[in-house]
Amino acid sequence: MSILDKHAYIERNATLLLVSSLLVVTIGGIVEIAPLFYLQNTIEKVEGMRPYSPLELAGRNIYIREGCYVCHSQMIRPFRDEVERYGHYSLAAESMFDHPFQWGSKRTGPDLARVGDKYSNEWHVQHLNEPRDVVPESIMPSYSFLKDTPLKVSNIKADLTTNTEVGVPYNQEMLDNAEADLKAQADPNADTAALLARYPKAKVGDFDGDPNKVTEMDALVAYLQMLGTLVDYSSYNDESGYR
Ligand code: HEC
Repeated sequence: MSILDKHAYIERNATLLLVSSLLVVTIGGIVEIAPLFYLQNTIEKVEGMRPYSPLELAGRNIYIREGCYVCHSQMIRPFRDEVERYGHYSLAAESMFDHPFQWGSKRTGPDLARVGDKYSNEWHVQHLNEPRDVVPESIMPSYSFLKDTPLKVSNIKADLTTNTEVGVPYNQEMLDNAEADLKAQADPNADTAALLARYPKAKVGDFDGDPNKVTEMDALVAYLQMLGTLVDYSSYNDESGYR
């Protein structure tokens, strides 16, 4: 029987075709899945990642609520044009505390994975208030109401606790101090030693320019300003050639 005849024979025999297909899919499945049981970790080890501070987490919630992800991705791919424009490509470790992650693929606006430290707080407030004041051709909507909306603080401990349920390593001290940490991060005059010990590199400040109240603008800008700033790349062994 030639190979073509064998093919024709299998194709015309429904049971044999089904069994053969299942066999092929099973082998493929085992090859893909089996290594995952032996690998210690599928996320590369990097220094510097930590869970979001309470204020950053609150800002992230607003980011999700307002659908910023509809126009912005947070995932820099390992291609030269992306790395030259946005910085080091995203690592899996950088979104390991994201529930849900914000990778996305729709880029009506630029990728935001490393937007932290790119602009001043004032720039962000002005931009979110009315994007066309700073980028005349912008098509981004205005989010001016954020600076007039007080941030809801009372549920932040519950929010952190919920994150622990899906594996984010907030400890009891972090949970107990959630509300105090949130307020301290938005107050440039607060004693932030304890906050910074719990959340290294957290940016402290009066983000929205109004020191009298903590608004949703404070939280969102605190979140944007930390994006992509945590990983210490000197400790990351990059063998890909893209930096
Ligand atoms: C309708 C699509 C759209 C939505 C929704 C949107 N943006 Fe944008 N965004 C853009 C566009 C387009 C730009 C580029 C022009 C500009 O800078 O305004 C941009 C730019 C930005 C920048 C500057 C990035 C850089 O590197 O220059 C930031 C930060 C930003 N957006 C944050 C947000 C946040 C936060 C939200 C949600 C509250 C949001 N955007 C919602 C379209 C959008």
